[in-house]
Amino acid sequence: MHQSVLVTGASSGIGEAVAVHLAHKGFRVFASARRIEKLAPLSSLAGGRITPLAMDVTDEQSIRDALETIAGQGVTLFGLVNNAGVSVTGPIEEVPLEEWRRQYETNVFGLVNVARAVLAQMRDAGRGRIVNIGSVAGRIAPPFLGVYASSKHAVEGLSDALRRELAPHGVKVSVIRPGFINTPFGDQEQEGLARYADGGGPYADQARIFKAWHARGHPSAPPPVIVAEAVHKALTAARPRSRYSVPAQSIGMLALRNLLPSALVDRILERITGLSAYKKDGQT
Ligand SMILES: NC(=O)c1ccc[n+]([C@@H]2O[C@H](COP(=O)([O-])OP(=O)(O)OC[C@H]3O[C@@H](n4cnc5c(N)ncnc54)[C@H](OP(=O)(O)O)[C@@H]3O)[C@@H](O)[C@H]2O)c1
Repeated sequence: MHQSVLVTGASSGIGEAVAVHLAHKGFRVFASARRIEKLAPLSSLAGGRITPLAMDVTDEQSIRDALETIAGQGVTLFGLVNNAGVSVTGPIEEVPLEEWRRQYETNVFGLVNVARAVLAQMRDAGRGRIVNIGSVAGRIAPPFLGVYASSKHAVEGLSDALRRELAPHGVKVSVIRPGFINTPFGDQEQEGLARYADGGGPYADQARIFKAWHARGHPSAPPPVIVAEAVHKALTAARPRSRYSVPAQSIGMLALRNLLPSALVDRILERITGLSAYKKDGQT
């Protein structure tokens, strides 16, 4: 019997890579997202071990329907990979509140809703794995990614509490922290940043510099399979780590963030992104 895993946001990027990788490793995978047409081709891969499933993580009825479909196949889920996510970019002062809400509805409340919906079956089975896809931005909040970064900080915090609550029930919780990964997510962030870089607002010059740095980073970033490999470890290790950071260079950044005073981390971020030039003459 193959162990079964539900992956959210599997129609693109990291979620798709996770679904395919896990299926090749022998898992039975329920690959979910809103765009079912993008999921359909997955069913012909990996010996038919991937089942596409329509699910919007912001819609409780849609979560219930998807889980009923899984249960209807006589399946008890061993794992949940909470991957579905969006990125709302822009200055904290300027991003409209409804955009903040959209960010949290997907990355935080959506993740919580799906986890809550599968936990009873895992507790009853006395075993299970929850793997939450966080981000390096869940520890280091860059300027103009503050809305997104704050949602990923929330994922870090709730995952810690969940891990501690579930430990006696045999359910283990891990967070994966990807750095830049080459997926369509980068284009989504670029579009968001362009709104503020080109909008003539008070942060336009800074947003332009930040956007240019981001544009250099994303296309040359590693492929999503490195995240899929970390997810596989979190699902199969006898004692999974509470956190997996990929790629390796992001581990260095996270260590610096932990060791150095915030003022120094601020300077490093300004240097890396090119924003230090803006600060010098106030014009750039
Ligand atoms: N790429 C990176 O550099 C990077 C770095 C760190 C962390 N991450 C995290 O990795 C995860 C996946 O990102 P990605 O890079 O693979 O982005 P992506 O290619 O844009 O994929 C995002 C996925 O989320 C799904 N999604 C969005 N809203 C949803 C909703 N309401 N319900 C269900 N599914 C929804 C999308 O599917 P539908 O639109 O079909 O629903 C899509 O499959 C996100 O949590 C992101 O924050 C990415």
